[in-house]
Amino acid sequence: MKPREASVLVVEDEAKLRRLLELQLAEESFQARTAPDAETGLRMLSEESFDLVVTDLKLPGMSGFEFLQAVKRINANLPVIIMTAYGTVESAVDAMKAGASDYVLKPFSLAELVLVIRKELATRQLREENRTLREELGRRYEYKNIVARSPKMQAVLALVERVAPTNATVLIGGESGVGKDLIARAIHEHSRRSSGPFVKINSTAIPENLLESELFGYEKGAFSGATTSKPGKFELADKGTLFLDEIGDVPPPIQVKLLRVLQEREFERLGGTKTIKVDVRLIAATNRDLRAALEEGTFREDLYYRLNVVAIDIPPLRDHNEDIPDLANFFLTKYSQETGKSLGAITPQAMKLLMDFRWPGNVRELENIIQRGVTLSAGTVLDTADIHLDGQTRRSSGGSDHVLPEGTTLEQWEEETIREALRRANGNKSQAARALGLSRNALRYRLSKIGVPDPPENDS
Ligand SMILES: Nc1ncnc2c1ncn2[C@@H]1O[C@H](COP(=O)(O)OP(=O)(O)OP(=O)(O)O)[C@@H](O)[C@H]1O
Ligand SMILES: [Mg+2]
Repeated sequence: MKPREASVLVVEDEAKLRRLLELQLAEESFQARTAPDAETGLRMLSEESFDLVVTDLKLPGMSGFEFLQAVKRINANLPVIIMTAYGTVESAVDAMKAGASDYVLKPFSLAELVLVIRKELATRQLREENRTLREELGRRYEYKNIVARSPKMQAVLALVERVAPTNATVLIGGESGVGKDLIARAIHEHSRRSSGPFVKINSTAIPENLLESELFGYEKGAFSGATTSKPGKFELADKGTLFLDEIGDVPPPIQVKLLRVLQEREFERLGGTKTIKVDVRLIAATNRDLRAALEEGTFREDLYYRLNVVAIDIPPLRDHNEDIPDLANFFLTKYSQETGKSLGAITPQAMKLLMDFRWPGNVRELENIIQRGVTLSAGTVLDTADIHLDGQTRRSSGGSDHVLPEGTTLEQWEEETIREALRRANGNKSQAARALGLSRNALRYRLSKIGVPDPPENDS
């Protein structure tokens, strides 16, 4: 509420001062109402709503102090400002202890009073905003199979809750293993489409030349080998949700087709002439920053904005490591049951190891570590000896000032890293791109930058 609209109740027995305050507060754009005594003031409070009360301490009948206590009993959040005569600071302090927000000493200037009122109203507004925020956070979102106690993950679930019932396209971002699949499914399951199909397609896992027919289907004879016709994922997902994983890896020609489906909800099968209409909600995921791909020109801007209607970014595990104990115990129970072992707990020392780790592979890596521990453990608790972390990525503090090897520029280092990844992948670009955390398109772009020829696809 803006201060100008705030309504103020003034309780003052001295008629002249009361009238003056009423007029001057109105001049300052407050809605000012007055009462000559506490009893009248209380009656007015029960009949009208006020944002703030200003009261004299010395009143006939019920004292200002008793009035303050009564007001606080009715509404503890209503700010009360005390006016008191000079020389009675002690009573003002008592009033503050009893819940008054502030006080002014008579004689005061109107400017002084207005300042105190404004400050109080602003504080109250802040407090109220805080309270609604807290209440929202206080509302815990619970999804089976999703551990999310931390505020960061609660915020993710709050977004899921809000977006699930709509048909909005959702773009889920986050590093590998943070739970993008899990969240996509949760959106589907909490949508009105939950009784429809949830169809997933991973563009990285499918060879580029097959991706188009996988998505849109094909007619008999569309290409050599198409001996029958086949519906694509879009048709299979009709009345349900299509989850397009690794959207950043979709090659440009298919991006164009996707854009059309998103805009018009229709397409043709490969080699087909019939236009097919579908009712599909699209959820896309990417483990890289698509905006970087936009800048590199490997991802279409128009498609990006179509997909990015609602963005849900899942934080890496290291940014919400307060969830680690819950997650670890969740996986402990899961894999104890699966393996028929009776592992009841994780020792505090082992938990500390888990808490201190950086988890480059996020929740998936944590799940794998616990699964391995449970499988190999012979005891009844999971201890440090059962936890096998990759030593290199343990959280390190300090160390060398050099980020890059000495004498190397960032460009040289990037080029060397890319060449090394290609060598290790025996020239397979998909594999090299995966190792580098890049899409094939992004890798291709970087290769062209460093002048590596782009041979025809030898990807699998
Ligand atoms: N908050 C969570 N609570 C419980 N399990 C989780 C949570 N987040 C992730 N997991 C589990 O971790 C594993 C990895 O999650 P998921 O496959 O959803 O990650 P992703 O982000 O899709 O990874 P990628 O980028 O590699 O595809 C799954 O087994 C999933 O069930
Ligand atoms: Mg995934």
